Order: sequence, then structure tokens, then C-alpha cells
Amino acid sequence: MSGPAASRPLRSALRRLGGYINRNRGFYAIWLAATLAYVAAFTAIPRLVGHTIGLVDAGRPSDEIAASIGWLVAVTLASALVRFFSRTLVFNAAREIEYEIRNDIFEHLERLPQSFYARWRTGDIMSRCVNDINAVRLLLGVGLLNIVQTPILYVAVISMMLAVNVKVALMVLLPYPLFILIARTFGRSVHRWSLATQEGLADLSNQLQETISGIAVVKAYAMEGVTAERFAAGNQRLFHSQTRLVRANAAMPAIVMLLPAAATLIVLVVGGQEIVAGRMAKADFFTFVMYIYNLTFPTFIMGWVVALAQRGAASMQRIDELLSEQPSIADPPGLTGPETVRGDIEFRNVTFRYPGQDGRDPALRGVDLTIPAGTTLGVVGPVGSGKSTLASLIPHLYEVEDGQIFIGGDDINRIPLAALRRSIAVVPQESFLFSMSLAQNIAFGVPNAEPQAVLSAAAGAQLDKDVDELPNGYDTVVGERGVMLSGGQRQRTALARALAVRPQILILDDVLSAVDAETEADIQRELAEVFRGRTVVVVSSRVSAVRNADQIVVLDDGRIVERGRHAALMRQGGMYARLASEQAEEEALRGAVAEVAR
Ligand SMILES: Nc1ncnc2c1ncn2[C@@H]1O[C@H](COP(=O)(O)OP(=O)(O)O)[C@@H](O)[C@H]1O
Ligand SMILES: [Mg+2]
Repeated sequence: MSGPAASRPLRSALRRLGGYINRNRGFYAIWLAATLAYVAAFTAIPRLVGHTIGLVDAGRPSDEIAASIGWLVAVTLASALVRFFSRTLVFNAAREIEYEIRNDIFEHLERLPQSFYARWRTGDIMSRCVNDINAVRLLLGVGLLNIVQTPILYVAVISMMLAVNVKVALMVLLPYPLFILIARTFGRSVHRWSLATQEGLADLSNQLQETISGIAVVKAYAMEGVTAERFAAGNQRLFHSQTRLVRANAAMPAIVMLLPAAATLIVLVVGGQEIVAGRMAKADFFTFVMYIYNLTFPTFIMGWVVALAQRGAASMQRIDELLSEQPSIADPPGLTGPETVRGDIEFRNVTFRYPGQDGRDPALRGVDLTIPAGTTLGVVGPVGSGKSTLASLIPHLYEVEDGQIFIGGDDINRIPLAALRRSIAVVPQESFLFSMSLAQNIAFGVPNAEPQAVLSAAAGAQLDKDVDELPNGYDTVVGERGVMLSGGQRQRTALARALAVRPQILILDDVLSAVDAETEADIQRELAEVFRGRTVVVVSSRVSAVRNADQIVVLDDGRIVERGRHAALMRQGGMYARLASEQAEEEALRGAVAEVAR
């Protein structure tokens, strides 16, 4: 499995980019034709100017001159029109591909397994989705435009010059190699400083974002001064690269004037001799100078374009790397299965290790378990014993290493993921709320939910009383990650979200850890109603949460060490009974402390 550090080969990145270009080949074919037409018209203009001046010089009749001027105007207009058309085409195609890549990345990200998100940093993924896509768009737009058009223009202009006068043409071209060198150095410097500016901006926005999210911690540790200094240092670096960029950009017009000046000087000297010797018409002098100016700008920006293309290619490599990450679990092709699944669950001798943990102890070993439809399983055990892991195997978030899992009598590998996940709702240990309204958070799994369904889901999760106290009730926007709510309210919102789906199978992973014992008891009572007719897996570190379950398993170090009902397990006097008495003591102590505090 390749981590973010391992880079994909350039060939693979270019092949992928080629695929996008190929899909838009219609665009590119027309664009190429337009480019040829543009270059033809553009290089014809100096010849027409020379021709017109020649007519004036020779004292030809004015209608002949007027006709020539007419041609000149027509060709100039045509070239402008074709230029507009071809640029629009290539820039639109670049936007189209940018749009396609962005959609592809997003869909891909949603298919990637959780192990991917453990390996990759969010900032890195974000920057590939924003900065790298941008760089690829520039490569496909300005980059491709110049890389294709400039050589064509060169060939056309040089052949035109040679056709006018071979000697002058060769002499005029002399300073170009030197100029290309200067332009490259300059282009690299512009590129380097604009990159540094971008990175500086990204660094500052990261710092800003982190400080704002962690402002409570910053203040609590009185670190305002230190964070401000760090910010100022980053800001200083940004300022430095920005001033360098300004300098490099300001140098551009100055350097751009050097080449045509030098080349014009050569035309004056060499061309002058040719004219005196009668080997060249006076008018051709103007033709040459115009050609020189035609070539100046494209030559000059070539250095920048090359740097841009290199950066675009590197960015495409980074995007390719992201898109090459394998979705670990996907339906095998041609899989047809039930639309929804029945609620009975069976684990047969399941052993599981997290991806990338080869050689370490498995997180689950030899787990055998049968949960009849409509019953409740309680899972308890110490921290790290594998409770959450067991819960995550039911919606097929991971592939098991050994053994089999059956849902509704079917092997889990034969059930389409969509059907499976439609029938199962998981309330994870760490719930996540989106910065939407409370109602939208609850209805997340059923986008067209009736308001009534939201209300009853909220009631089932004992959330309804809290809602009355929120400023806008169910329309309250809960803030980023739900900062507006308390920990217990967030957990109950997540529970309501799961209930709104009306799943066959409901999995609660330590959901009530952040609510007090009294609320827990209320929710338990309410949940008894919700649990009816559903298969429920209640994972908890607290024994009190599972005491009413039809079946309880105790996990230790990935193995089931005890199983049975509450009363039997208590009598057995093993790990379960020990956990229960420890927790009862804790609860009593907490009660006593609360009593004293009162
Ligand atoms: N995403 C993961 N990648 C690798 N190891 C993990 C991952 N999640 C949990 N583990 C490991 O698996 C074991 C069981 O974890 P978990 O199921 O979360 O325990 P519990 O929920 O009982 O506290 C622990 O040793 C933990 O470190
Ligand atoms: Mg857990």
C-alpha cells in the first residue's frame, strides 16, 4: 500500500491526464485547427504591411493601395476573431477537465476506506483538491496553449523571414538563444516566488485556522504572544516572497524590450546593407521588424510556461497518487443481492487485523457470535479490547482476515454495500455533526424526511426537551462539528440521526458515555421502545448500559471471554462481575461527591 510519501511515476500521471484530454478530444481537435488558422493569419499580417508599403513606395494607383489595405484590415480582424475563439476553446477545455477531476476526486474520497484517512492528513488532501487542481488547469490552459502554439508560430515566422531574405533572417535570429536563456532564468524566478507566495498564504491560513479552532486552549495556556509571534514570522516570510515577486514582475517589461531592440538593430545594419546593395526592398524592413515583435512575447513567456508546465505535471502526479488509492471494499462486479437485509447476524470464527498492522496482534480473534433478528446484544470490555472493532465489521467497513460474517443469512461479501448500509445505522463513539441545522443533522441519512419523522427520532433519543431551549429549535445551526451543543446533546443528536433511518440493525458504540447516569436511564427506557423489532448491538464500557440485553459478551484483548445474560454473568463472578462492581463503586463515589458539593 503506498503512503502519501511514495510518489506515483510521472508516466502514470500523464496517462491519466491523457485520458481526460482524450475524453475532450473534440474540443482539442477544433482548437488545433483554430490555432493553425490563427498562426497563418497572424504571420500574413507583416507580409501584407510590407506589400502595402511597397505599393506606396512604388507610387501605385490609390485603388490598388486601398485594396491592399482592405485585405490587411480583413486578415487582422480574422486573426483577432480566431484568436479569441481558440483561446476560449482551450481555456474552456481546461475548465471542463478541472471540473471532471474535482468531481472524480470527491467521489473517490467518499469510497476510500477509513485506513486511508488514518494515513493522510486532511490539509494534504485539501491542498491536492484545490492547489494541485489549479496547477493542472494552468498547465492545460496557458501552458498547453503556448507549448503547442509557440513552436508552430516559430516555424511559420522563420519560414516567412527566410522567404523574404535569408541572410537578414539568419542574422536576426542570432540573439534569440541568449534571450531564451534570460527568459528562462526570469521565468523560473517568477515561478519560484509565486509558489513561495502561495505556500506562505497556505501556511498562514493553516495557522489562522488552527488558532481559531483551538482558541480556548491558546487562551487557557496564555499562549497568545507566542502564537502571534509565530504568525508574524510566517507573515514576514510571505511579505518577503511577495516583494520578490513584485520585483521579478516589474523586470518583465524592461527585459521584453531588450530583444526586439537588439534584433531591430541587426535589421537596420544588415538589412540596410542589403537594401543599399539592392537585394532587399525597403518595405521588407518593416516586415522584419514586425516579425521580430511577433516572436518576442511568446519567446519571453516560454520560460514561465515551462516552469508552469513542470509544476502542473508534478501536481498531476500528486492527484494521480490520490486517485490511485484503492477503495479497500467495493462490490465485486456483477453482484446482485437483496435490496435490504434481514436483521440476524452471525460471526463465525472471525479474526481481524487492521490494515497495515501485519505482524501485530489481531484486534479480534476467533469471535463466534449469533444475534437472532430482533434481539439485543450487549458488548462490554475494557478500553482497547476490540468492542468498536467488532461493531465496525457489521456494516462491512473492513474485510475480515479469517472466518465469515453472515447478515440475514447471507455472507457479507455477497451483499451489495448499498443495501447493507441502508439497513444498518451506526452511532459511532465519536459522533460528527455538520454545521447545518439540527433538523438537517438528524435527517442526514434520509434527506427527504417528514418533519414528523425528525420529531419522533429526536424524542427517541431524548433530545426533544433540549431542543426547546435552543434559540431556533430544530432550525438552530449547530456550528462547526456541533460546537453549539454539549457533549451529551451531540451524542443524542447522533442517536436521533440513526433512529431517523429506521434501520433493521442499530449499532450504538459507547453512545451514552457523555450523558449522566440519570439521562442514560431515561434514554434506556425510551430506547426499549425503539429497540423493539430491531437487531441492536450496544457497545459500552459501562455495564449499566447492557444489563437489559438479551445476550451479553465480554471482550478482552480481542477475544470473547464471557457470555450470557446479566444475572448469570454477575453470579459467575468473572470479569463482568468485576467491571460491574468497580463501576458501581465509581457511581456511588460520584454520587457522594455530588452530595458533598451540594
Ligand atoms: N483504525 C485502527 N487502526 C489500527 N488499529 C486500531 C484502529 N482502531 C483500533 N485499533 C486497535 O485495535 C484494538 C481494539 O480497538 P477498539 O476496537 O477501538 O477498542 P475498544 O472500542 O474496545 O476500546 C486496539 O488495540 C486499538 O489500538
Ligand atoms: Mg471503542
